[in-house]
Amino acid sequence: MKFFVDTADVDDIRELNSLGLVDGVTTNPSLILKSGRDIIEVTKEICDIVEGPVSAEVAATEYDEMMKEAAVLAKIADNICIKLPLTLDGLKACKSLTDMGHKTNVTLCFSANQALLAAKAGATYISPFIGRLDDSGIDGMELIQEIRTIYDNYNFDTQILAASIRTVNHVKIAALIGADVGTMPPSTLKALVKHPLTDKGLEAFLADWAKTGQNIAG
Ligand code: E4P
Repeated sequence: MKFFVDTADVDDIRELNSLGLVDGVTTNPSLILKSGRDIIEVTKEICDIVEGPVSAEVAATEYDEMMKEAAVLAKIADNICIKLPLTLDGLKACKSLTDMGHKTNVTLCFSANQALLAAKAGATYISPFIGRLDDSGIDGMELIQEIRTIYDNYNFDTQILAASIRTVNHVKIAALIGADVGTMPPSTLKALVKHPLTDKGLEAFLADWAKTGQNIAG
């Protein structure tokens, strides 16, 4: 499973990238707002840090405008992935951009049928939103499972990008189901390393090591 980080905070991206944990980045208009930065400027900076795909979302809702915005975003860097909403115009733009050789991420997916449409439009990634479905009282993981089954049934190349991940358990279950990618906030990515028995074990080893009086590096 690839790890994408869901943020427009360049300091967090730089830190996680230096740990080798970032296979790509996803942003959205809310994350750009939170960053307080200009979308072109901050996206360029992210693309300079990360080698993998960096999703930048169009803000237009009609096909022609989406295509104009996509052209501007695509010029930022070679690793830009154009993020489009799951609407008929978004799917049309997805098809055109895919045909032009661009990477595409169809976002705001909340049903298996929507994911089927995105795959038929040639999306590189489909982004089902787990946390937001959970918030509305529907099990978001069921959607990941349904999409996995449908994509496998028909050998679609579209990759499942599990999004709106809120917990480390979301990451584990999405990986067990076989999501191709998980995008998560920096805090969730860092939390994956934590286990109380690791901390307790390390504490005991360090205490015993101190008693040996030895020093490995001299
Ligand atoms: C994905 O691309 C989205 O930016 C993101 O995962 C949305 O997460 P949220 O529901 O926590 O805002």
